[in-house]
Amino acid sequence: MAILAVQHIEKHFGDTQVLSDISFSLEEGQALSIIGSSGSGKTTLLRCLNFLERPDHGSIAVKGGVIFDAADPSTQAEKDIRQKRLHFGLVFQNFNLFPQYTALQNVTLARELLVKERGGESKEEIIKAGRELLAQMGLADRADHYPHQLSGGQQQRVAIARALALHPDILCFDEPTSALDPELTGEVLRVIRSLAEQKTTMIIVTHDMAFARDVADQVIFMDGGIIVEQGDPREVFDHPKEERTKQFLSRYANG
Ligand SMILES: Nc1ncnc2c1ncn2[C@@H]1O[C@H](COP(=O)(O)OP(=O)(O)OP(=O)(O)O)[C@@H](O)[C@H]1O
Ligand SMILES: [Mg+2]
Repeated sequence: MAILAVQHIEKHFGDTQVLSDISFSLEEGQALSIIGSSGSGKTTLLRCLNFLERPDHGSIAVKGGVIFDAADPSTQAEKDIRQKRLHFGLVFQNFNLFPQYTALQNVTLARELLVKERGGESKEEIIKAGRELLAQMGLADRADHYPHQLSGGQQQRVAIARALALHPDILCFDEPTSALDPELTGEVLRVIRSLAEQKTTMIIVTHDMAFARDVADQVIFMDGGIIVEQGDPREVFDHPKEERTKQFLSRYANG
Protein backbone atom coordinates (compact mmCIF):
# COMPACT_ATOMS: atom_id res chain seq x y z
CA MET A 1 0.00 0.00 0.00
CA ALA A 2 1.24 3.46 -0.88
CA ILE A 3 2.13 5.70 2.06
CA LEU A 4 0.79 8.67 0.07
CA ALA A 5 -1.84 8.66 -2.65
CA VAL A 6 -2.79 11.93 -4.32
CA GLN A 7 -5.73 11.77 -6.70
CA HIS A 8 -6.97 14.31 -9.20
CA ILE A 9 -5.92 17.42 -7.28
CA GLU A 10 -7.00 20.73 -8.83
CA LYS A 11 -6.34 24.20 -7.49
CA HIS A 12 -7.41 27.63 -8.77
CA PHE A 13 -6.39 31.06 -7.58
CA GLY A 14 -9.12 33.29 -8.96
CA ASP A 15 -9.27 32.63 -12.69
CA THR A 16 -5.88 30.97 -12.79
CA GLN A 17 -5.74 27.20 -12.70
CA VAL A 18 -2.50 26.42 -10.88
CA LEU A 19 -2.88 22.63 -10.52
CA SER A 20 -4.80 20.38 -12.90
CA ASP A 21 -5.57 16.72 -12.31
CA ILE A 22 -2.47 15.94 -10.24
CA SER A 23 -2.28 12.25 -9.32
CA PHE A 24 0.65 10.29 -7.99
CA SER A 25 1.54 7.89 -5.23
CA LEU A 26 4.58 7.29 -3.10
CA GLU A 27 5.71 4.07 -1.45
CA GLU A 28 7.15 3.99 2.04
CA GLY A 29 10.91 4.54 1.99
CA GLN A 30 10.88 6.12 -1.45
CA ALA A 31 12.13 9.54 -2.49
CA LEU A 32 10.17 11.47 -5.09
CA SER A 33 11.70 14.50 -6.76
CA ILE A 34 9.56 17.15 -8.40
CA ILE A 35 11.09 19.33 -11.10
CA GLY A 36 9.62 22.01 -13.33
CA SER A 37 10.03 25.62 -14.30
CA SER A 38 9.16 28.55 -12.08
CA GLY A 39 5.41 28.93 -11.64
CA SER A 40 4.62 25.35 -12.65
CA GLY A 41 2.84 24.70 -9.33
CA LYS A 42 5.42 22.74 -7.31
CA THR A 43 5.17 24.78 -4.12
CA THR A 44 1.39 24.96 -4.38
CA LEU A 45 1.29 21.16 -4.57
CA LEU A 46 3.38 20.84 -1.39
CA ARG A 47 1.18 23.44 0.29
CA CYS A 48 -1.92 21.41 -0.60
CA LEU A 49 -0.43 18.32 1.05
CA ASN A 50 0.18 20.31 4.22
CA PHE A 51 -3.24 21.98 4.38
CA LEU A 52 -1.70 25.37 3.73
CA GLU A 53 -3.95 25.45 0.66
CA ARG A 54 -7.24 23.63 0.04
CA PRO A 55 -7.53 21.90 -3.31
CA ASP A 56 -10.77 22.58 -5.23
CA HIS A 57 -11.00 18.96 -6.32
CA GLY A 58 -9.32 15.70 -5.50
CA SER A 59 -8.20 13.71 -2.50
CA ILE A 60 -5.13 12.95 -0.44
CA ALA A 61 -4.66 9.71 1.47
CA VAL A 62 -1.88 8.82 3.90
CA LYS A 63 -1.32 5.16 4.81
CA GLY A 64 -4.67 4.31 3.27
CA GLY A 65 -6.64 6.87 5.29
CA VAL A 66 -8.22 9.78 3.42
CA ILE A 67 -7.01 12.98 5.10
CA PHE A 68 -8.54 15.32 2.55
CA ASP A 69 -11.30 14.90 0.01
CA ALA A 70 -12.64 18.03 -1.66
CA ALA A 71 -16.00 16.30 -2.05
CA ASP A 72 -16.26 15.32 1.63
CA PRO A 73 -16.48 18.24 4.10
CA SER A 74 -16.03 15.87 7.04
CA THR A 75 -12.37 15.49 5.97
CA GLN A 76 -11.83 19.25 6.17
CA ALA A 77 -12.75 20.03 9.81
CA GLU A 78 -10.50 22.74 11.28
CA LYS A 79 -10.07 20.83 14.52
CA ASP A 80 -8.35 17.91 12.76
CA ILE A 81 -5.97 19.88 10.60
CA ARG A 82 -3.09 20.22 13.05
CA GLN A 83 -3.10 16.49 13.58
CA LYS A 84 -3.18 15.83 9.84
CA ARG A 85 -0.31 18.23 9.20
CA LEU A 86 1.86 16.04 11.42
CA HIS A 87 1.95 13.46 8.65
CA PHE A 88 4.21 15.84 6.75
CA GLY A 89 7.45 17.53 7.72
CA LEU A 90 8.25 20.65 5.77
CA VAL A 91 11.66 22.11 5.03
CA PHE A 92 11.50 25.42 3.19
CA GLN A 93 14.00 27.41 1.22
CA ASN A 94 14.56 29.99 3.97
CA PHE A 95 14.93 27.78 7.06
CA ASN A 96 12.66 30.01 9.22
CA LEU A 97 14.38 29.13 12.49
CA PHE A 98 13.37 31.04 15.61
CA PRO A 99 16.21 33.55 16.12
CA GLN A 100 15.78 33.73 19.88
CA TYR A 101 16.22 29.99 20.40
CA THR A 102 19.32 27.80 20.16
CA ALA A 103 19.68 25.11 17.51
CA LEU A 104 18.63 22.46 20.02
CA GLN A 105 15.63 24.48 21.21
CA ASN A 106 14.55 25.01 17.61
CA VAL A 107 14.62 21.24 17.13
CA THR A 108 12.79 20.30 20.33
CA LEU A 109 10.27 23.13 20.72
CA ALA A 110 7.41 21.78 18.60
CA ARG A 111 7.79 18.28 20.05
CA GLU A 112 7.70 19.66 23.60
CA LEU A 113 4.50 21.59 22.87
CA LEU A 114 2.89 18.55 21.31
CA VAL A 115 3.80 16.28 24.21
CA LYS A 116 2.58 18.88 26.70
CA GLU A 117 -0.83 18.69 25.02
CA ARG A 118 -1.10 15.00 24.36
CA GLY A 119 1.40 13.26 26.58
CA GLY A 120 4.40 11.26 25.46
CA GLU A 121 8.06 11.06 26.29
CA SER A 122 9.76 13.14 29.01
CA LYS A 123 11.48 16.44 28.38
CA GLU A 124 14.86 14.74 28.91
CA GLU A 125 14.01 12.18 26.26
CA ILE A 126 12.97 14.92 23.84
CA ILE A 127 16.26 16.74 24.41
CA LYS A 128 18.24 13.54 24.02
CA ALA A 129 16.45 12.79 20.74
CA GLY A 130 17.04 16.40 19.61
CA ARG A 131 20.77 16.10 20.28
CA GLU A 132 20.87 12.82 18.37
CA LEU A 133 19.16 14.43 15.39
CA LEU A 134 21.62 17.32 15.43
CA ALA A 135 24.49 14.81 15.60
CA GLN A 136 22.99 12.97 12.63
CA MET A 137 23.05 16.30 10.76
CA GLY A 138 26.73 16.75 11.65
CA LEU A 139 25.91 19.49 14.17
CA ALA A 140 26.63 17.84 17.53
CA ASP A 141 28.89 20.74 18.51
CA ARG A 142 26.41 23.44 17.43
CA ALA A 143 23.46 22.52 19.67
CA ASP A 144 23.78 25.62 21.83
CA HIS A 145 24.45 28.07 19.01
CA TYR A 146 21.82 30.59 17.97
CA PRO A 147 20.78 30.80 14.29
CA HIS A 148 22.82 33.99 13.71
CA GLN A 149 25.91 32.07 14.82
CA LEU A 150 25.35 29.39 12.17
CA SER A 151 26.01 29.34 8.43
CA GLY A 152 23.10 29.01 6.03
CA GLY A 153 23.94 25.36 5.44
CA GLN A 154 24.05 24.70 9.18
CA GLN A 155 20.75 26.51 9.68
CA GLN A 156 19.14 24.42 6.98
CA ARG A 157 20.41 21.24 8.63
CA VAL A 158 18.88 22.43 11.92
CA ALA A 159 15.62 22.95 10.02
CA ILE A 160 15.82 19.36 8.73
CA ALA A 161 16.42 18.06 12.28
CA ARG A 162 13.46 20.15 13.46
CA ALA A 163 11.18 18.57 10.85
CA LEU A 164 12.39 15.07 11.74
CA ALA A 165 11.82 15.67 15.47
CA LEU A 166 8.07 15.42 14.87
CA HIS A 167 8.42 11.98 13.24
CA PRO A 168 6.59 12.84 10.01
CA ASP A 169 5.50 10.05 7.68
CA ILE A 170 6.70 12.07 4.71
CA LEU A 171 9.41 14.71 4.70
CA CYS A 172 8.89 17.47 2.11
CA PHE A 173 11.63 19.78 0.87
CA ASP A 174 10.89 22.91 -1.14
CA GLU A 175 14.12 23.93 -2.88
CA PRO A 176 16.17 23.25 0.24
CA THR A 177 19.41 24.60 -1.19
CA SER A 178 18.31 27.46 -3.40
CA ALA A 179 19.08 30.13 -0.77
CA LEU A 180 22.57 28.73 -0.16
CA ASP A 181 25.97 29.50 -1.63
CA PRO A 182 27.23 26.65 -3.78
CA GLU A 183 29.81 25.56 -1.19
CA LEU A 184 27.08 25.18 1.46
CA THR A 185 24.72 23.35 -0.88
CA GLY A 186 26.82 20.18 -0.80
CA GLU A 187 26.56 19.67 2.95
CA VAL A 188 22.75 19.93 2.85
CA LEU A 189 22.48 17.61 -0.16
CA ARG A 190 24.70 15.07 1.63
CA VAL A 191 22.31 15.07 4.58
CA ILE A 192 19.28 14.60 2.31
CA ARG A 193 21.09 11.85 0.44
CA SER A 194 21.86 10.02 3.69
CA LEU A 195 18.20 10.32 4.71
CA ALA A 196 17.28 8.71 1.39
CA GLU A 197 19.78 5.91 2.05
CA GLN A 198 18.09 5.36 5.41
CA LYS A 199 14.79 5.02 3.53
CA THR A 200 13.17 8.19 4.78
CA THR A 201 10.04 8.80 2.71
CA MET A 202 10.60 12.14 1.00
CA ILE A 203 9.31 14.58 -1.59
CA ILE A 204 12.00 16.93 -2.87
CA VAL A 205 11.19 19.95 -5.01
CA THR A 206 14.46 21.04 -6.54
CA HIS A 207 16.07 22.90 -9.42
CA ASP A 208 19.19 20.75 -9.00
CA MET A 209 18.71 18.25 -11.82
CA ALA A 210 21.71 16.05 -11.01
CA PHE A 211 20.50 15.72 -7.45
CA ALA A 212 16.90 15.06 -8.49
CA ARG A 213 18.12 12.30 -10.76
CA ASP A 214 20.53 10.70 -8.27
CA VAL A 215 18.57 10.75 -5.06
CA ALA A 216 15.07 9.88 -6.20
CA ASP A 217 13.27 6.62 -6.88
CA GLN A 218 10.67 8.52 -8.88
CA VAL A 219 10.58 11.90 -10.59
CA ILE A 220 7.69 14.13 -11.62
CA PHE A 221 8.11 16.86 -14.21
CA MET A 222 5.48 19.58 -13.91
CA ASP A 223 4.68 22.32 -16.35
CA GLY A 224 1.75 24.74 -16.29
CA GLY A 225 0.14 22.96 -13.34
CA ILE A 226 0.04 19.50 -14.85
CA ILE A 227 2.24 16.44 -14.53
CA VAL A 228 3.78 16.19 -17.98
CA GLU A 229 5.88 13.13 -17.29
CA GLN A 230 6.63 10.90 -14.33
CA GLY A 231 8.59 7.75 -13.70
CA ASP A 232 12.01 6.30 -13.03
CA PRO A 233 14.53 9.18 -12.92
CA ARG A 234 16.92 7.48 -15.32
CA GLU A 235 14.13 7.06 -17.86
CA VAL A 236 12.77 10.59 -17.49
CA PHE A 237 16.17 12.31 -17.50
CA ASP A 238 17.92 10.18 -20.11
CA HIS A 239 15.00 9.27 -22.34
CA PRO A 240 12.26 11.88 -21.88
CA LYS A 241 9.18 11.04 -23.92
CA GLU A 242 7.44 14.38 -23.99
CA GLU A 243 8.60 17.35 -26.00
CA ARG A 244 8.11 19.72 -23.06
CA THR A 245 10.31 17.55 -20.83
CA LYS A 246 13.02 17.48 -23.50
CA GLN A 247 12.94 21.26 -23.81
CA PHE A 248 13.05 21.79 -20.05
CA LEU A 249 15.95 19.38 -19.52
CA SER A 250 17.93 20.78 -22.45
CA ARG A 251 17.84 24.23 -20.82
CA TYR A 252 19.69 22.74 -17.85
CA ALA A 253 22.01 20.64 -19.96
CA ASN A 254 23.11 23.79 -21.79
CA GLY A 255 23.82 25.55 -18.50
N1 LIG B 1 -1.72 32.64 -3.07
C1 LIG B 1 -1.69 32.77 -4.40
N2 LIG B 1 -2.56 33.57 -5.03
C2 LIG B 1 -2.55 33.69 -6.38
N3 LIG B 1 -1.71 33.04 -7.19
C3 LIG B 1 -0.80 32.22 -6.61
C4 LIG B 1 -0.73 32.04 -5.19
N4 LIG B 1 0.27 31.17 -4.92
C5 LIG B 1 0.80 30.83 -6.10
N5 LIG B 1 0.17 31.43 -7.13
C6 LIG B 1 0.45 31.26 -8.56
O1 LIG B 1 0.42 29.89 -8.83
C7 LIG B 1 1.40 29.53 -9.78
C8 LIG B 1 2.27 28.42 -9.24
O2 LIG B 1 3.06 28.93 -8.18
P1 LIG B 1 4.05 27.99 -7.35
O3 LIG B 1 4.65 28.85 -6.29
O4 LIG B 1 3.34 26.77 -6.94
O5 LIG B 1 5.14 27.64 -8.46
P2 LIG B 1 6.52 26.89 -8.31
O6 LIG B 1 6.51 25.77 -9.28
O7 LIG B 1 6.76 26.54 -6.88
O8 LIG B 1 7.57 27.99 -8.79
P3 LIG B 1 9.09 28.28 -8.31
O9 LIG B 1 9.95 27.26 -9.00
O10 LIG B 1 9.34 29.68 -8.79
O11 LIG B 1 9.10 28.17 -6.81
C9 LIG B 1 2.15 30.81 -10.11
O12 LIG B 1 1.62 31.32 -11.29
C10 LIG B 1 1.85 31.70 -8.94
O13 LIG B 1 1.89 33.04 -9.31
MG1 LIG C 1 8.20 27.08 -5.49
